[in-house]
Amino acid sequence: MFAAKSIEGQDKPVFYEELCSQLGGLLHGETDAVANAANTSALIFQLVPDLNWAGFYFLRTPDELVLGPFQGKPACMRIAVGRGVCGTAAERREPVLVEDVYAFPGHIFCDGGSRSELVVPLLHGGRLLGVLDLDSPTTGRFDAEDRAGMERMAQIYVAATTWTA
Ligand code: SME
Repeated sequence: MFAAKSIEGQDKPVFYEELCSQLGGLLHGETDAVANAANTSALIFQLVPDLNWAGFYFLRTPDELVLGPFQGKPACMRIAVGRGVCGTAAERREPVLVEDVYAFPGHIFCDGGSRSELVVPLLHGGRLLGVLDLDSPTTGRFDAEDRAGMERMAQIYVAATTWTA
């Protein structure tokens, strides 16, 4: 049985070092994309403070993301590439950090309680697989250290998983 260890009272670099280490242990020996996404979102939601949603959208066609495993309230199931924060991160193939969702034109409200958002792309050798999306009820919750930490988390998830053509 895997038991997540709480990470408290640490600065963010130390926090993400420990979070990434726990994710590596959690995914060790499993290569299934859905199983790994389910446990990655569960670990993030359990250990990362001040979130109301954490989960995955997968690129199912070249222009559409489809909801994957997540923790939080039921969410939008399909997002066009280029739309909202998730679709913007997918289109740019780079993280999008939104300090105030009301100030982001085109933000898609799945949970009316969300105030800030961080989306990082899932990239495998230049191929876009989807995005990892985090929402917080607190404006300005995410900063550059969260962005860097979650990019590492996304890389660990992608590397642990087998991707077919
Ligand atoms: N807010 C996102 C939609 C997904 S939910 O937050 C889970 C967006 O604008 O793309």
